Amino acid sequence: MCGIVGYVGPNKAVPFIMEGLAKLEYRGYDSAGVAVLENGSIEIRKTEGRLKKLADILEHETLGATTGIGHTRWATHGRPSNRNAHPHSDCTGNFALVHNGIIENFTSIKEGLLERGHKFTSETDTEVVVHLIEEFYKGDLVRAVQDTVAEVRGSYALVVVSCLHPDMIVCARKDSPLVIGLGEGENYVASDIPAVLRHTRRTYVLEDGEMAVLRSGGVDVMTTTGRPVSKNVFNVTWDPVQAERGGYPHFMLTEIHEQPRAIRDTLRGRISEDRTRVVLDEVHLTRDELAGLRGLAITACGTAYHAGMVTKYLIERLARIPVEIDVASEFRYKDPLVGPDWPLVVISQSGETADTLASLREGKRRGAHVIGITNVVGSSVAREASDVVYTWAGPEIAVASTKAYVTQLVVGSLLAIWIAQAKGTISQDLAHELISELNELPEKAQRVLEMEDEVKAVAKFVAEWDDAFFIGRGLDFMLCLEGQLKLKEISYIHAEGYPAGELKHGTLALITEGVPVIALATQLDLLDKTISNITEVKARGGHVTGVTMENGRELEKHLDHILCLPRTHQYLAPVLAVIPLQLLSYYAAIERGADVDKPRNLAKSVTVE
Ligand code: G6P
Repeated sequence: MCGIVGYVGPNKAVPFIMEGLAKLEYRGYDSAGVAVLENGSIEIRKTEGRLKKLADILEHETLGATTGIGHTRWATHGRPSNRNAHPHSDCTGNFALVHNGIIENFTSIKEGLLERGHKFTSETDTEVVVHLIEEFYKGDLVRAVQDTVAEVRGSYALVVVSCLHPDMIVCARKDSPLVIGLGEGENYVASDIPAVLRHTRRTYVLEDGEMAVLRSGGVDVMTTTGRPVSKNVFNVTWDPVQAERGGYPHFMLTEIHEQPRAIRDTLRGRISEDRTRVVLDEVHLTRDELAGLRGLAITACGTAYHAGMVTKYLIERLARIPVEIDVASEFRYKDPLVGPDWPLVVISQSGETADTLASLREGKRRGAHVIGITNVVGSSVAREASDVVYTWAGPEIAVASTKAYVTQLVVGSLLAIWIAQAKGTISQDLAHELISELNELPEKAQRVLEMEDEVKAVAKFVAEWDDAFFIGRGLDFMLCLEGQLKLKEISYIHAEGYPAGELKHGTLALITEGVPVIALATQLDLLDKTISNITEVKARGGHVTGVTMENGRELEKHLDHILCLPRTHQYLAPVLAVIPLQLLSYYAAIERGADVDKPRNLAKSVTVE
């Protein structure tokens, strides 16, 4: 995720761009830059670091340009640095471009461009785009952009300026947002509405495969194949604070709703074109090394630890090797079983959690190959691990982790299938089924989000209680742990996650008349067993909400409430089943008047032991 802003009109572009970027810092903040058309040439100013650093640089400048673009970055390809900051320019300096998204085939495009003599100044995937525009340009910028997007695969919101066309901005979108703001004698483009809201409420929202040409006098919208499109004006009615959260009242809810996109981005480029294999080129373990593995260890903290539990389960089921898992604050002191034939996987959204980092270093000290799964390019985990597999969730602002967790589950599933394919422990049929189901998760996650009102009703009930239970078997149990943590973290309702079959060996006595119990039952091979445990709970008066898949409806008669998810392979069900649990916690917290985005005694990144 990155933030993009563009301005064309009679006024100075830089103040508009900087004001707009400030509203988009939630989309990325590791570097920032602007490109403006100044006296017949393009002037670029960019820097690693937050927007304030760019503002300090620009303060000493007198840029009077009236056309320009800006960018606030969340690194994907290439760590945060001055060189990798956007905008990027071509060899001639005639074009400058900002990009949000991921260009999947940039390696092959770059090879061709290098052969044809192009010089690159950054490590980004983005830079290939502006060199392609340079190659395709024959006097018509719109045509050059159309020809360029026909070559690239992946996701993009692209915004381009050229000193050969000083009063115009060309932009295009696929799978990354772009809105056009319609002003009086001036027009704007941005990744999100808040960036333009102080100037206009009249917008066009670009759809996938659409592009736009902005001039001060008007905006033309067309498809990227050149067919004119007539757009309806979208009049924004949100208040400015709400608009900054994509129309949602809290970042947590925004981030829950971003999950289909985050899943899609995390899968991008990690499945072979014929959809038969998982491709994790980032992990440098050879077939021989994988064949010789005695075991694997996983360590992480908090929500990331729960993603680790799901990953452990899947690796053991699919790749048939033992996987140790510990919370990082325990792992580092337990003389852990890692070494040259026992790699370590560390999972951390921020990549900066002190306990996780100490565990990573302990693993390396013992000669283990360390695979870091993190959401932050350039973070300590990313720098110190032997290999990094990024989750492409984009910046997570709310303290309680949601979209990062879901993308950790996706990476965990990919890793398990990848190891199993390399070791030959998974049948082709199962691998193909899982891969095809992975590809459908973004759309199915979107359908789960449509259950929001149903979940809200359950949350209203749960919020009246001071205790709640989550029960489930197999992967559902691992999800219970995340469900109970989320509920406790933000609503302060005490909750327990229990393996459904274990309740009778422990705290069944606490299930009394009306106590809310969330029964996860997506593991259909265990459905009968889970139903028996639900019956035990019902017999003691528990109020049971079941979460299952469409094909688990037989559960319904045993429940007070059912939440039915779209059908997927049960190994991937956690990715969908966590969404109602996140919404449940969110709405229970709202019901209780809690500060959802800043829960008490909880920090986003814990960099002390
Ligand atoms: C803190 C946060 C949790 C997070 C955990 C691990 O405790 O409050 O939400 O899950 O750290 O963070 P990491 O950045 O390493 O995933």
